Parts: sequence; structure tokens; C-alpha cells
Amino acid sequence: MAEAGGVLVIGADGAIGEAVAARLEAGGARVVRTSRRGTAGSLPLDLEAVPATWTPPPGIASAVFCAAVTSTDACRDRPEQCRRVNVDATLDLGRRLAAAGARTVFLSTNMVFDGSMPCVPATAPRRPRTAYGRMKAEAEEGLLTLGGTTIVRLTKVVGRTLPVIERWRQALGRSEPIHPLADLVMAPVALDFAAAVIAAAAREPLGPILQVSALADVSYAAVACRLAARWGYPADLVRPQTVSASELTLEHVPLHTTLDGSAVRDRLGLQPPDPWAAIDEVA
Ligand SMILES: NC(=O)c1ccc[n+]([C@@H]2O[C@H](COP(=O)([O-])OP(=O)(O)OC[C@H]3O[C@@H](n4cnc5c(N)ncnc54)[C@H](OP(=O)(O)O)[C@@H]3O)[C@@H](O)[C@H]2O)c1
Repeated sequence: MAEAGGVLVIGADGAIGEAVAARLEAGGARVVRTSRRGTAGSLPLDLEAVPATWTPPPGIASAVFCAAVTSTDACRDRPEQCRRVNVDATLDLGRRLAAAGARTVFLSTNMVFDGSMPCVPATAPRRPRTAYGRMKAEAEEGLLTLGGTTIVRLTKVVGRTLPVIERWRQALGRSEPIHPLADLVMAPVALDFAAAVIAAAAREPLGPILQVSALADVSYAAVACRLAARWGYPADLVRPQTVSASELTLEHVPLHTTLDGSAVRDRLGLQPPDPWAAIDEVA
């Protein structure tokens, strides 16, 4: 049964935070949003400068942590600054929420694993290979010790678009070739699907770890080929390349990104989706 009480959405301006807040409100929940950029109707909260006196608003039953530095490059290049947000402030707020009797829902990532095996079980040991993944793993561990925490691990969440997809579309629109990576994979899930799971975890306790993943990985090159065909651009403008031939300096290239999503299926009746379902929702 769903709990009475409001839901605090920390970082409600982000892609997932906005979708989760909207879904909860559509279901009748009282939602309190936070923003670091002064969004009207949101409580101000910057995780780089949480006031020592900050306490959760009254009547909050659960809080969803959507605020984080999500750029893997930023976490690699500015680890101390990003760690203050992604680990220190997150755990600090988690402790204050627990002290006020609120449950915590924390958004994490497949990148807490090393990507050496597909469909990783939720209980597998964490083996992050990137600074971002290490920060998420540390925050997961710390929040789980507080009790009343649900970690929601997500693979690639795809809404109406993604920055990389926008870059492809614009280049193709100028009749320029694109060079998507053939050896980098994603297990895309639609934003609506991810938001449904996160909102459910905010409404009622669903156990310590939920994993939201597509059933299989697809390469960025395969995604680009499918979208280019759907948008009506010539196939020969899509020229896949490997990570090593690209200008990218990735910390780690996982072989697999899928997670075992059986807990979501068993507890919520939501089947882990086919990866193309999310790509076919791209505008
Ligand atoms: N999207 C995915 O594919 C994916 C996959 C796995 C896990 N996740 C996790 O899901 C969560 C949400 O991701 P998202 O895709 O919605 O990311 P996003 O669109 O980049 O949103 C991140 C939010 O965090 C806020 N934020 C960043 N630094 C902050 C600070 N110092 N204080 C307060 N707020 C701060 C941002 O504020 P501004 O809006 O003001 O910049 C933004 O609203 C993150 O924890 C991410 O690691 C996402």
C-alpha cells in the first residue's frame, strides 16, 4: 500500500527528476521539488552548498535523489568537486532525511559494475571502472547503511532525444557523415519506463535495489543506422568507427551494460523492455 506523505524530488529540473515529479503528481502525490537554479515553485538546494541548518520539509515520506553531476568527463577531470556533490552531500542529505523518518530513493547506474558480464544481478559485487561509477558505488554503499533506502540502478535512459542523437541529426541534416561508435553499447530504456519504476519506489518500499535495464545491448552505431533510416537520410552517411579510432578518451569501454531486471518484473509487473522500444520513441 502506498504511504501517506509527500515526496521530495531533489534535482527536479533534470530530465529524470522532471519526469518523476510529473508522474508522481499525476498519480495524486504531493511533490516538493528542489532546484539549484531558482525554478519557480521549487525549494532552493545546491548540493555544493547545503546549509548546515537544512532539514527536510515537513510531511515528507520519501525523497528521490535525482541531483548529481552526471558527466563522466566532469567526474574524471574534477573528481574532488564532483565527489562533494555525488558522495558527500548526497550522504549528508541522506542522513538528515533518515533522521526525519523519510525513506530515500537513490538513482544509480550500471557503471557501478565493470561491464564484463551481461544482465548483472543486483547483488553482484560493485566493480566500477570510472570516477563517476566509483562515486555512485560509494554513495550506494553509504545510503544502504542508513536503512529505508532503495537504490534504482539505471542503464541509458532515453527521452525524446539525447545530446549525441541531436548531434547526429544536425550533421545528417547538413548532409555530413556521422561516425557513431561500433564498439560502445547501451541498453536503452525509455524515460517513461524509468520514471514509472522510480515513482513506484518513491510511493512504497520496494526493497534495497531495483535495476532498470533493456533486455539487450545495442551499439551506438546500430542506433544511428536505425535512426538515420527512419529520418530518411542515406545509409552511406553513417560511417561507424571504433573507440580507439575516435578522438574520445573514455576511461573504460564496457563490453556489456545490461542489468538483471527481474525484481522490477516481479514486484511491479513491468517487463524489461526490448532496447529498440526506447529508440523508436526518439522524435
Ligand atoms: N540519464 C541516464 O541515462 C542515467 C543513467 C543512469 C543513472 N542516472 C542518474 O539519474 C540521475 C538523474 O539523471 P538525469 O539524466 O536526469 O541527469 P540531468 O538531466 O543531468 O539532471 C541532473 C540534475 O542534477 C542537478 N544538479 C547537478 N549538480 C547539482 C548541485 N550541485 N546541486 C543541486 N543540483 C545539482 C542538475 O541541476 P541543473 O538542472 O541546474 O543543471 C540537474 O537538475 C543522476 O543521479 C544520474 O546519475 C541517469
